[in-house]
Amino acid sequence: MILDIVILAAGQGTRMRSALPKVLHPVAGKSMLGHVIDCARSLSPRHIHVVIGHGAEKVRETLAADDLNWVVQSEQLGTGHAVAQALPHAGGAEQILVLYGDVPLLRSSTLQRLSTQAGSDTLGLLTVTMDDPTGYGRIVRNPAGEVQAIVEQKDASAEHLLITEANTGIMALPGAHAGTWLNSLSNHNAQGEYYLTDVVALAVKSKTGIEVAQPDDEVEVMGANNRQQLAVLERAIQAREALRLMAEGVTLADPARLDVRGTVVVGRDIFLDINVVLEGQVTIEDDVEIGAHCVIRNSVIRKGSVIKAFSHLDGAEVGEGCDVGPYARLRPGTLLGRGAKVGNFVETKKAEIGAGSKINHLSYVGDAVVGEQVNIGAGTITCNYDGVNKFVTRIGDNVFIGSNTALVAPVSVGAGATTGAGSTITQDVPAGALAVGRSRQRSIENWQRPQKKTD
Ligand code: UD1
Ligand code: CA
Repeated sequence: MILDIVILAAGQGTRMRSALPKVLHPVAGKSMLGHVIDCARSLSPRHIHVVIGHGAEKVRETLAADDLNWVVQSEQLGTGHAVAQALPHAGGAEQILVLYGDVPLLRSSTLQRLSTQAGSDTLGLLTVTMDDPTGYGRIVRNPAGEVQAIVEQKDASAEHLLITEANTGIMALPGAHAGTWLNSLSNHNAQGEYYLTDVVALAVKSKTGIEVAQPDDEVEVMGANNRQQLAVLERAIQAREALRLMAEGVTLADPARLDVRGTVVVGRDIFLDINVVLEGQVTIEDDVEIGAHCVIRNSVIRKGSVIKAFSHLDGAEVGEGCDVGPYARLRPGTLLGRGAKVGNFVETKKAEIGAGSKINHLSYVGDAVVGEQVNIGAGTITCNYDGVNKFVTRIGDNVFIGSNTALVAPVSVGAGATTGAGSTITQDVPAGALAVGRSRQRSIENWQRPQKKTD
């Protein structure tokens, strides 16, 4: 079956009170429209058409991709009019699925079910029965239970308003009829709009079959018109992600206090304490523990490592059995070898730290290659920047860097060497040597402290 998907995203979203077009507002770190596009892609359609209007340029720029056909609807004359704008690009499609850029939680499995059920000859509707369907179009059925029409809230009679089966808006149009139906829509209704929903009555008239499907879960078809609704969607998607992680073998101290804004791949027997935020591409292997209030972005944490509370990782790879934090900051290009330790108030950037090496307290290690079993004392700084260029510090295996050493790059410290505490190291240190680069201490005997002046 030749499948095309049309995503409606032209509306203004006034109630967001935002300079950002509504469909670009993020849910779980990705724009609402981005989620819908991904869901559409999962069905491998021939084309995806995105109907844009308000903020069209910004939307197109933000989500540009080769597989998207952008259709501009300069005046928003209704959902039927919006789909009609995309139709000339959908020639030959046997089925056209209609989705909405502000309904981001739709599951691929639900959409697939609707698509399969409808096929190419019938009209498919996704409906949901609600306790309070106020605002939604109502599904009108005859006594035999066959769908006859959709009536919009504003056009509904008192009798119609009692119907609890609501239109989600998501539908599957049979390609062979879509053109005829959309061309014959009128805007003689309470809102003066061309209603997509009127195709239902047209299908009945032309004796086209109608198939109805339901989502597994009501949040799948919820949209966001304001920031309150956006927050509801955010919590719903986070709850979904928390359930998935637990199902895969992760213990969460509190499923309501984890935020995932990206793609997280996990092993088993992982423990995540409260208020962990995972962003971008994150891989967490077996037996890892992450303490409270950690932010982990685009990072890999290998087996058995422990990331203690309040640590911040971005673009880091933590090897097996490492110990990081509390209060560590690993910046992009940090690579920790097996069993390495990075302690409190340590910042690393573009730093390769060898197996078993330790940087336990209050240091900055940037643009550095550090060997194995190295001990870097508290307060050590790699002076990697001369104000214009960055330079590399190389430290060999088994080196001992004394506390408060300033390593002025480019510089290297040979294997097994030692630097004295408080040294400023500006020249390469040979392997096995002790380098001391500080002024000698002198003690003045019987020193008289200055006296407070009296006048
Ligand atoms: C629509 C349905 C209603 C359904 C509800 C579910 C119609 C006539 N009604 O009503 O039965 O219960 O969705 O939420 O379809 N859009 C455009 N261009 C337009 C008009 C709309 O792109 O010209 C987009 C909007 O940005 C919005 C979506 O389509 O994201 C829905 O439009 P809206 O006018 O809000 O429809 P509802 O009144 O919610
Ligand atoms: Ca409307």
